[in-house]
Amino acid sequence: MAILVRAGAKALDSWRPLLETALPGRDFRFFPELGDPAAIDIALVWQPEPGLLSGLPKLELIVCLGAGVDAIIRDPSFPRHLPVVRLVDPYMTAAMSEYVVFQVLCLHRQGLVYSAQQRRSEWREHPQKNAGERPVGILGFGTLGQDAGKKLKALGFDVAGWSRSAKNVPCIPTYAGAAGLDAILARSEILVSLLPLTRDTDGLLNARTLARLPRGAAIVNVGRGGTLIEADLLAALDSGQLSAAVLDVFHTEPLPPDHPFWRHPRIVVTPHIAADTHPATAIAAVVEAIREFEAGLPLTNRIDLDRGY
Ligand code: NAP
Ligand code: GLV
Repeated sequence: MAILVRAGAKALDSWRPLLETALPGRDFRFFPELGDPAAIDIALVWQPEPGLLSGLPKLELIVCLGAGVDAIIRDPSFPRHLPVVRLVDPYMTAAMSEYVVFQVLCLHRQGLVYSAQQRRSEWREHPQKNAGERPVGILGFGTLGQDAGKKLKALGFDVAGWSRSAKNVPCIPTYAGAAGLDAILARSEILVSLLPLTRDTDGLLNARTLARLPRGAAIVNVGRGGTLIEADLLAALDSGQLSAAVLDVFHTEPLPPDHPFWRHPRIVVTPHIAADTHPATAIAAVVEAIREFEAGLPLTNRIDLDRGY
């Protein structure tokens, strides 16, 4: 049987030698060279085109080459009976925490304000809080959220986390479920979203929830663009309810050139680079998933299709 590998062209160049070394003698099909679709039993995919997976009649396992599986499972023809394993890679976790810590520090130290002043040659001081006086809330307190939260806590920030199920993390207060959402919003001067995109998180950052944040709060969205209602963000910035937004993920990617986010003075845009998959380290997780599957073992990072992540 064969293993389909579907990733972007550049990523395929990295995956090809790593896979051929880690799993010698296996029959790999590098997209778009599928050969006989009925020969493929395992698919390693990132953002597969709709219909690709349902067109593989003998498929038994799907391994997502990224952490978020939304692009796989939103395909209406996606074969829902099959196991899907998502990527958990310590390198990716560390990369995400670097991004979150960097952006939270910039917001905390008023980087946008001082950059704008420099462009005007304006020498003006603003009051500055200490990290311990800055409450940071993290929506999505899973693999990535907890690591970022612990690193922010180590810098002294007053961190809290929010997840679907209750958590017990030393020294970090946590909130859970719909009942805990307003409480974490109300305390978060900087709100970081590391939520997966699911039917429950779709549009969760909207006029109502943004209004629950302290006035002048800032947000960092690194989860998925679909969790944020873009027009509501612009309105919240215009009204002064929010002071800034750092966005790495968007409804439409690449962000269209005429999109208002590009030119907004209080929005920082990055092109979905917070934590790219790094094949050289991610290969270990991919091989582990295949070995577990072939040994009939429970799949460590299998997603729950009903929850959607
Ligand atoms: P994860 O370990 O599955 O964590 C997801 C967290 O979100 C969990 O704490 C989960 O709660 C919580 N959650 C999910 N639905 C919720 C809901 N309805 N209400 C409250 N909490 C909810 O995933 P991860 O590895 O941390 O990755 C998170 C996301 O980051 C990915 O899905 C992807 O979209 C995004 N990401 C972005 C980049 C980038 O470069 N921008 C890179 C990698 C990943 P429980 O703990 O109770 O399950
Ligand atoms: C990137 O966004 C990922 O989900 O891995």
